[in-house]
Formats: sequence, structure tokens, C-alpha cells
Amino acid sequence: MKLLHNKKGIIFGALNEDSIAWKVAERAYEEGAYIVLSNTPMALKIGNIYKLSKKTNSIIIPADATSLKDIKNLFNKTMEHFNGKIDFILHSIGMSINIRKKREYTNIDYNWLQKSWDISAVSFHKIMKIAWDKDAINEWGSIIALTFIGSKRIFHGYNDMADHKAYIESIARNFGYYWGKKCNVRVNTVSQSPTKTTAGIGIKNFDIFLHYANELSPLGNASADDCSNYIITLFSDLTKKVTMQNLYHDGGFSKTGINESIINRFF
Ligand SMILES: NC(=O)c1ccc[n+]([C@@H]2O[C@H](COP(=O)([O-])OP(=O)(O)OC[C@H]3O[C@@H](n4cnc5c(N)ncnc54)[C@H](O)[C@@H]3O)[C@@H](O)[C@H]2O)c1
Repeated sequence: MKLLHNKKGIIFGALNEDSIAWKVAERAYEEGAYIVLSNTPMALKIGNIYKLSKKTNSIIIPADATSLKDIKNLFNKTMEHFNGKIDFILHSIGMSINIRKKREYTNIDYNWLQKSWDISAVSFHKIMKIAWDKDAINEWGSIIALTFIGSKRIFHGYNDMADHKAYIESIARNFGYYWGKKCNVRVNTVSQSPTKTTAGIGIKNFDIFLHYANELSPLGNASADDCSNYIITLFSDLTKKVTMQNLYHDGGFSKTGINESIINRFF
């Protein structure tokens, strides 16, 4: 039987073929899931999500993930579409205005910081709060958000995203407790290797992050396709007791201090 046979879910954040959410939607569909895709009205215009919706036989419901009104509408329509509750949610959303506008961390604009925090972190809480209020998730459901190791260690240029990622990991742990108690739903973050996507390449020195992580990791960087495979296992019933975790999916990068190749560079 397929891993997600008959499961239903919402996938946020597929912009184009490079998006991690795009790959997850494709794999979820292959594994027998029914999905609803969501992104901002602007992303629907600039990306090509309609191609994905055709490929995965899914509907698109636009929502700005910072707007409670939009999220409520999304859940109402999704539950109407599926005639009931869902089994999984992917939060694959991130954006820093300070990074976009090239403001250094020591000279941050606080209005942009607040907006970016709302988009990149608080939206995860908002989505779970609406799902909670509407009792929208089936027993043993699975909720996942994406994060990056910049939440724990300095990656020069990752700027305020580092703080937003620390916050979203904390939301997963805290809300995960309540969801577990309520109806055995699990909540985790997946800490992914640097990956060439629209959000990724906007970060200063991104190519250097990518090459350095690839060289340091014993297994090399995890691609977006690898990430989608991992996320499918986390949506499946094979991982029912994994919750409140920040799960590294990075080829071993997070556990490696120095390796032969780096040593040789300094000889
Ligand atoms: N690319 C990497 O190197 C990398 C590494 C680790 C984690 N991540 C995380 O993966 C997630 C997905 O990013 P990606 O790399 O696939 O890039 P991406 O640019 O394809 O996806 C980011 C998505 O966020 C959406 N978004 C922005 N503002 C929004 C809002 N207000 N409401 C709803 N959606 C909004 C965008 O439209 C876009 O679809 C992000 O959380 C990112 O931080 C990325």
C-alpha cells in the first residue's frame, strides 16, 4: 500500500519547481495523498503553482499565512472540499525583508523584522491555532515546518531569519505538546541542508553556505527531492511517535566539526 494512501493535507509554500513544497506535493501525490495547495495571491501570479495543481490533481486556495481571516477561509474551504478533516500540514514559508533589502543584522529595520517574523514564524502558530479551533486534524495527524541550522549556529548573512527559525522551532515544541495531548497529532520541524530555491538564493553568500555544507557533510547536502522523501515518512503512519523534535536532514552537517577536506585546506 502507498505510504499516504487516502491521507489528506494542506501544503503551503510551493512557488515554482525549485520549491521544497513543490517536491513534497509531487511525492505526496505519488504516495496516494489528496492535497490542497496554498500560497499568497502574489505568489500565484509570479510562480507557476497552477502547473503543480494540474500535475497533482489538487485545488489551490490562496492565503496570506499572516492573515487569520485568510487561514480561516482556507480551512473552511479545505474541509468542505474533503468533506471532513485532514491528516497533514506542511508549512514551507519563509521571507526576510531585511535580507531582501540588504540590511545588516546590526542595523536591522524593526518594522521589517516584525513582518518577517510574522511571515516566517508566527504564521506557523496561526495555522495551528485555526486548525485547533476548527478541530481540523484527524487523530495521528502530522504537522511539519521547515527550518535551518542557522537557528542554532552563526551563518553569516542569514540575518534575522536565524531568530525566526529559532522561534518556529520553539512553536513546534510548545504547540506539539498540546496537539499530542488533544488528539495524538505530532508537530516537528525539519532542519534542511542549504537548497537552491528562490528563498535560498536570496541569502547573502548562499553559494558558499551550499558548497561548505556539501564539503563538510559526510553524506553531502540533502537535496529538495531527498527532503520530500523524508517529509513523506513523517506524514506517514511509520513515524507516529515522533513529535516536538527539530529533525536534522542535512547529510550529517550538524554533527560534523571539521573533516579531512577542511584540514587539508589549511595545510
Ligand atoms: N532553501 C534553503 O536553503 C532552505 C534550507 C532550510 C530551510 N528552508 C526553509 O524551507 C522553506 C521553504 O523555502 P524554499 O527554500 O522552498 O523557498 P521558496 O522561495 O520556494 O518558498 C518560500 C515560500 O514562502 C511563501 N511565502 C512568503 N510569504 C508568504 C506569506 N505571507 N504567506 C504564505 N506564503 C508565503 C512564498 O510565496 C514561497 O512559496 C522556508 O521555510 C525556508 O526557510 C530553506
